Amino acid sequence: MAPILLVVLLAFIPRTVEGHQSVAESQLRLHFATGTKPIESGRWPDLTGQATAWVVGEPVLTNRGPAEALVLDGFTDYLLIATNASLAKPLLPKRDLSAAAWVLLEDTRPKGGLIGFIQDDGALEKGWVLGYNRRSFQFGLSSTGADDGNGRSTRISGKTPIELGRWHHVAATYDGETMRLYIDGRPEAESVVQSGDILYPAEGRFALGAFIDSNELFPMEGAFYEAKVYDRVLTPAEIESVVRRNAPMLAWRSGVNRDLAFLVPPYLQRATADGITVMAETERPVSLKVEYGERQPLRNHAVSASVSTLNSVRLEGLKPATTYFYRLTATDASNHVARSDILSFQTLPGPSAAWAFGVVGDTQRNPEITRRCAEGLFALRPNAVIHCGDVVDDGFAKSQWVNDLLVPANRLFSQVPVFPVIGNHEKNAHWYYDYFDLPEPEYWYTWKIGNAQFFMIDSNKDCGPGSPQYQWLERELAASTATWKFTAHHHPCFSSDEDDYGDRLRGKPEKRWVDGDSNAARLVPLYERHGVDIAFAGHIHSYERTWPILQMTINQSRGVRYVVSGGGGGSLEQAAPQRAWFSLHVQRGYHYCFAVVQDRTIQFKAYDVEGRLFDTFELTKPRDR
Ligand SMILES: [Fe+2]
Ligand SMILES: [Fe+2]
Repeated sequence: MAPILLVVLLAFIPRTVEGHQSVAESQLRLHFATGTKPIESGRWPDLTGQATAWVVGEPVLTNRGPAEALVLDGFTDYLLIATNASLAKPLLPKRDLSAAAWVLLEDTRPKGGLIGFIQDDGALEKGWVLGYNRRSFQFGLSSTGADDGNGRSTRISGKTPIELGRWHHVAATYDGETMRLYIDGRPEAESVVQSGDILYPAEGRFALGAFIDSNELFPMEGAFYEAKVYDRVLTPAEIESVVRRNAPMLAWRSGVNRDLAFLVPPYLQRATADGITVMAETERPVSLKVEYGERQPLRNHAVSASVSTLNSVRLEGLKPATTYFYRLTATDASNHVARSDILSFQTLPGPSAAWAFGVVGDTQRNPEITRRCAEGLFALRPNAVIHCGDVVDDGFAKSQWVNDLLVPANRLFSQVPVFPVIGNHEKNAHWYYDYFDLPEPEYWYTWKIGNAQFFMIDSNKDCGPGSPQYQWLERELAASTATWKFTAHHHPCFSSDEDDYGDRLRGKPEKRWVDGDSNAARLVPLYERHGVDIAFAGHIHSYERTWPILQMTINQSRGVRYVVSGGGGGSLEQAAPQRAWFSLHVQRGYHYCFAVVQDRTIQFKAYDVEGRLFDTFELTKPRDR
C-alpha cells in the first residue's frame, strides 16, 4: 500500500455512521474494517487478531459517501484471508455461520463473490460464499446433509436488486438447518435444503472481494466498509439493528449518473497518429477525467485543464494506429459524477498503412437521418470521417448542436474522429469553434492520415487568389508530400442542381447559369496545379460525382474529381432535367460515402441510408502523380 494511502487512512475525518463494532462481540471469527488498523506491507489485519488478509493488486482507501471504503478495481484487486484449506480451516465456522458485509458494488457480473471459501467445478460444489450475480446478492452453501458424494450446494438470492454505487448491508446465516439471506437488514430468502455441518472442499482459497476457486477468479468492482464472519447465527433483530444504527449508509446515494448527466456524451476530435481530444458537455461546469489504456484496467489518465460545461481533455504521446479503450468521468463542484461507458478509439494510421475514411454532409436538422448516416458510417468502421458542412440548420441554435447532431451521431462520434468544414448554416457561430476542436486557424486547417493529406477550407470566406486562405492553401499544397491530396469545403465547384447556380428548370435569366459556386471555383486552378485527387463538397442536398476535370474539360489521366455529398439530413434537392457536361453520376437521396485507401489505390463507395451501394469507383494513381 502506498504511503499516501496510509496518510489518508490516519487522517480520516469523523464519520457520520457509527464506528465499527467492538472486537469483543461474541463468537466473532473475523472482522475486517476500514479506518481501524492500517494496511501495511500489503496486509490488512483483522480486528480479532486471528487473521491477516493479503492484499492482491492495489485497492485504494477513499471515501464513498458517509463511509471510508476500501475500493477494489474489478480486475486485479482482492484480499486473500487464507491461501489454502489447512490455513483456512481454523478460521472457518463448522456449522453455525454468519457472514455480513457493508458493500458498495460499482458493477456486477454473472458470478461474483464478497467473502467465502468455495469450490464450484461442475458437479463438485463445496464450501460457502456470500456473493452476487448480475442483479441480486446471493448466498451459496454446501453441507454434509445434502452431500451427493462430491457436494451439492444451494444458492439463495435476495429480492432487493443491487443498486450500483450504493451501500448495501448483506448478511447470511446458517444454523445446520436453515440458510437465510438478509439484504439491508431485511430477511429476503431462506432454504432448508441443506443440513448438518458445512461441507468444505479439500482445497481452495478463503477470499474477500472476489469469487475464487481453484479454476476461477472474478474480483469485484466496488468497495468494502466492513466484513465479518461469526461462529454463531445472528438473529434477525441483531442484523436489523446493525443496519438501523448505520442508517446514513443506506440513505446515501452516489452521485454517479444520477445528479449529473452528459448533455453530450463523449466524442472524439483532432485525432493524430499520437494524440486525440475527448470532449463532452454537461449541464453544470465539470472537470473531466479520461482514463485510458490499451486494455483494462485503464492505467493512464488525463484531466481537463479547466472547469466548464463544454469541456475537453487532450491525450498525447499515444502510439500510432493503436486501439485505446477510454472512459470519461465528469465531476462537478458538489462532487456529483457522470461516467461514460467504456469506449474505444484508434489513433490515426501512419503512411504505410491501408486505411479508410467516411464522408457525410448537410446533416442540418434531421436527427433520424443523421443518426442513420452515422450508424451506416460506423458500421463500415472508418478511421476518420469528414463532414462537408451545414452540420446544423442554424449555427446559433445551441439545441440543434446537441439534439440534431452530437447526440444522434454519438455512436460514431464517440469512437471515430470527425473532421468538419464550416457551411453557411453554421452562420460562423461560436458554437462551431466550441464544439469542434480543430487545428489552427480552425476556419481552415489541414490534417494527415495514412498516406493522405486533407485540406479543409472555409468556402464562406474569400477563396480568390490573394486571399489569406488561398495563399495558405497554395503554400500547404505545394509543401505536401502526401500520396493522396483531398480537399473539402462546403460549397461545390461543380453542381448540376436545378436552381442553385442558375435556373436550369425554366431558363429564367435573373440567375446567371454557372457550373457551381463561383467563390469555391476559384480554387480549381490550385487543385489542378497541385494534383488534388478528390475535392469534396456539400451544400447541395444530394449526391454528385464528376468526371476528372482539367481546364474545364474531361481529362481521364490528369483531371480532378469532384464529389458533392450533402445527403446527411437537409431537405433533398433536385438535379436539373438535362445532363451537365461534367457530371458522371448525379443522384437525389440521403446518403454517405466511404473510401478505402491502400498505397496508390482508392476504392470509393456511396451508400443510401438503407446501406445500399449506389455508386462506386476505383482509382489507381500512376507513379508520376
Ligand atoms: Fe445544406
Ligand atoms: Fe449549405
